[in-house]
Amino acid sequence: MSAHLARKPAPPPDESPSPRTTLPYGRQSISDEDVAAVVAALRADLLTCGPQVSAFETELAAWLGAPHVTVCSSGTAALHLAYAALELGPGDEIITSPITFSATASAAYQVGASVRFADVDPVTGNLAPDSVAALIGPRTRAIVAVHLAGLPADLDELAALARREGIYLIEDACHGLGATYRGRPVAGGNADAAVLSFHPVKHITTGEGGAVVFRDPGHQRAAQRLRHHGIERDPARWSRSSPGPWYHEVVEQGFNYRLSDLACALGRAQLARLPWFLARRRDLAATYRAAIGARFGTGPDAKVRPPAVVADRESAHHLFPVAIDFAALGTDRSRVMTSLAARGVGTQVHYIPLPHHPFHRKRAGAHAAWPRPGAEAYYARTLSLPIYPDLDRVDHVVEALADSLMEPCR
Ligand SMILES: Cc1ncc(COP(=O)(O)O)c(C=O)c1O
Repeated sequence: MSAHLARKPAPPPDESPSPRTTLPYGRQSISDEDVAAVVAALRADLLTCGPQVSAFETELAAWLGAPHVTVCSSGTAALHLAYAALELGPGDEIITSPITFSATASAAYQVGASVRFADVDPVTGNLAPDSVAALIGPRTRAIVAVHLAGLPADLDELAALARREGIYLIEDACHGLGATYRGRPVAGGNADAAVLSFHPVKHITTGEGGAVVFRDPGHQRAAQRLRHHGIERDPARWSRSSPGPWYHEVVEQGFNYRLSDLACALGRAQLARLPWFLARRRDLAATYRAAIGARFGTGPDAKVRPPAVVADRESAHHLFPVAIDFAALGTDRSRVMTSLAARGVGTQVHYIPLPHHPFHRKRAGAHAAWPRPGAEAYYARTLSLPIYPDLDRVDHVVEALADSLMEPCR
């Protein structure tokens, strides 16, 4: 090996955690038990397609109270599997929220379907059922509800609409694991399909990962086939009788959307901690509410308001989006975010309405300009403050927010 290709000696491992100067808006919580679970899986015979995968699916199904759970490589893959298993395709439309992550819509484009963006409630940012009803047409095949920030959408109203029209209801529950709607867990069989993400900022993580939940076992079978190259494993469904034990059939275009055993081992360990994660998020939200109320006042005239509380549902507090009347406070969001960052507080905006993005605008065509005053009002005010189980500086965040909002007036 020539000298310049010789590998440099590895630097000694740095055991001390790097100093965290800025609180992120979200982050994972990894315990010694999580690490041990992954290490054990790493020493097992099968690193993928092994026993951790079905164990994680079984445990998730028990947690959700929904029997048909398929884990996969991301929430985006889960959306793609959901749309594909429900056989959405060219000529079909879904209706969803403009206040969501790009993947909710782009996974529909992956199956050749198009997307209509309804309006949202300006306070919660969740789909407004009336607006969804106004957009339903002959090509509409599914309503995709997003539980923004962890607060369940109006599931019963949307389900009634879907039933009336003979179309599917799908939950994009990537923000919603652990939330309840009228006492029922989201992604727990309220809809024809529901999708979860295990990205590190979500309630539980597998590094990257996701899951899709179906009401109908046929849809689950389709998702499992599509996750694994379109391979049909059930001899009863093959085109001919099996010539031997090696035999299987590829029956359609599939993907490699599998989740490894390492990831599933982490997912199982994280799922065991989910009650604690949810309790921490609830406590942090309560602390925020009290601190924000004390600092900025309460009621409809308050210039900084915590996320809405809705009586018949419990948020999973994936995000903590506050509504700030920047104009009334004589400032703007960019200045406030920069000032918060200088004070060590990371924030984010969830979300830029999708029709604002060039790609989604182009795909939407003339529909992009359809009026969505609720979405624009929500977007104008929203700012996500840090929330994650290991966060312990809520008072600092609220003080930093107050200082940042006052800054231009000094
Ligand atoms: C609402 C929503 N849907 C879908 C996704 C996609 O999930 P993933 O990042 O696991 O692909 C996300 C991720 O942030 C999301 O927030």
